[in-house]
Amino acid sequence: MCGIVGYIGQQEATAILLEGLRELEYRGYDSAGIALLEGSGLRRFRAVGKLDHLVDRVGDYTTSGAVAGIGHTRWATHGKPTEANAHPHGLTHSQVVHNGIIENHLTLRDQVPGDFLSQTDTEVIVHLFEAFLAQQAPGEEAALKAFRATLNALHGAYAILLVTETRPGEIFFARQGSPLQLSMTDSGCHFASSDAAMVGRCEQAVYLEDGQWGVAGVDALQLFDDSGQAVDPQPKPLPATSAAAQKEGFRYFMEKETYEQSAVVSDILTGRIGKGGIRLDELPADWLKRFSSITLCACGTSYHAALTGAYLLERLAKVPTRVEIASEFRYREPILDPTGLFAVISQSGETADTLEALKLASAQGLETLALCNVDNSSIVRAASHTVLLRAGIEKGVASTKAFTAQVMALWLLAIYWGQARSELSEETLARELDALRRVRVAVKVQPRVHDRLHRLSKRYLHGHGFFFIGRDIFYPLALEGALKLKEISYLHAEGYPAGEMKHGPIALADAELFTVALMPRSCLHEKIKSNVEELSARDATIVAITTEYFELADDIIQIRAYDHPMLEFFEMMVVLQLLALEIAVRLGNDVDMPRNLAKSVTVE
Ligand code: F6R
Repeated sequence: MCGIVGYIGQQEATAILLEGLRELEYRGYDSAGIALLEGSGLRRFRAVGKLDHLVDRVGDYTTSGAVAGIGHTRWATHGKPTEANAHPHGLTHSQVVHNGIIENHLTLRDQVPGDFLSQTDTEVIVHLFEAFLAQQAPGEEAALKAFRATLNALHGAYAILLVTETRPGEIFFARQGSPLQLSMTDSGCHFASSDAAMVGRCEQAVYLEDGQWGVAGVDALQLFDDSGQAVDPQPKPLPATSAAAQKEGFRYFMEKETYEQSAVVSDILTGRIGKGGIRLDELPADWLKRFSSITLCACGTSYHAALTGAYLLERLAKVPTRVEIASEFRYREPILDPTGLFAVISQSGETADTLEALKLASAQGLETLALCNVDNSSIVRAASHTVLLRAGIEKGVASTKAFTAQVMALWLLAIYWGQARSELSEETLARELDALRRVRVAVKVQPRVHDRLHRLSKRYLHGHGFFFIGRDIFYPLALEGALKLKEISYLHAEGYPAGEMKHGPIALADAELFTVALMPRSCLHEKIKSNVEELSARDATIVAITTEYFELADDIIQIRAYDHPMLEFFEMMVVLQLLALEIAVRLGNDVDMPRNLAKSVTVE
């Protein structure tokens, strides 16, 4: 979720780097930094918080003459958002910025000399580089060889820019699994992790492939593949506007964010699955053990995540869990369990009802926990402790990746708490950890499925309403699917527990009632099947999201079969998000800014 920029040339570099970072700020901003190599001297500025803090730190400092500069805006995954953890990271004569995850960083730390000043996985890169450089015979190629040796030692994903006082006119770069692009222009060479930072300054860019690396000077570029063979750079035109560039090739932010969920899941799990199970380093050791119950409180999509979390917490941690809609909770004089934990869930951290509910619980003397996506938000500041969601900035008003991050955080919490209470057998723990590791694949959009939804959507633009039905954790998912559809398509949709339809709503059933049935293989399959049969017998039109052929469905959206309900949950969630998107697009609606809605609801 971080952003990278770089520039080498004769122009004033602080402005180029800071403006580039400003364009990438939409990806994350808990700290930022730049390093400037002028002549042979390196200078570094870093600051915690929004980019403006870095701009203040840089003040009126400007560069003159040839300069090689690198910059980074960070959204913390490894290590807290502190200045020490902000990029660039340096040692005696080099500085580096990095996106991605160096999976073997702890092993590598033991292999290089020198003290480490941060908790990041990035710092080891600069230590390795300087150690390899010290082993090289002096010469033109020494730094390039040391850089290559560094890359060979790294396992994981990276986009890297590195400057060193030993090669003042150069930037070393590499890509493996994290995006990086460069552009040679008349005024020098620019680097960025996405188009947004280049639009306006460059007309075209070379999008590096995995395994590519090299070194750039003011007007020279050496580009290699992973076997060390020279590669001929192939520039492509850049988008015309920065708004288009920020969408990274997608039509809408909501679509981009739906596709981003696999990367979000990787970020969420980074450093959290250890040998002994789940680690949540942001919570004090044994803190959860003192609570006998938990109340989850939230609004909208975050409330649906809370409802899902209740199934997980009761099942895995065996902790009594109650779920509250924040706007209702506030005014009903709630009686809270004094030995319970009060947790709020919020993407923005600014939702007025959720914040007030949190304050109310605190005023009653309860300890509180925030599961929140925005560090330093009002909710984070008001809570006793926070688990950050790590979803990155969500721009689409209809929440997608934040919902994923919320459900993942609650699932991690349930396992972590279950471990602390010794409620999880070894077998269950192993099964949960295995499933967690596979979510990344379950949420990855399959082009086949997206294409099917695109074609299918034209059949569902009318009718007198949609019912989304599911059981167990698929009931809150049904609520979320219905909310997505109504938010951006403005069609009437309702989420309902499948077993409840016969207690009233089935009276609405006819061919113009579209029922989206969530029919997982691994959870109450036969039960939901008979609920759907009841609707089909009344002529309702059935859209089944399922793993196999179902003769009563008018349309089937097929998902892969899994042995764990949470994997089916996440794959179905992507289907529901894209179904809503495709219907809204066909209806000509503004998907990212639906009428009457705001991203952050700071009023009651
Ligand atoms: C729906 C949506 C809203 C929010 C709700 C709470 O797509 O985004 O329902 O979930 O307004 O917002 P947060 O999570 O910021 O507290």
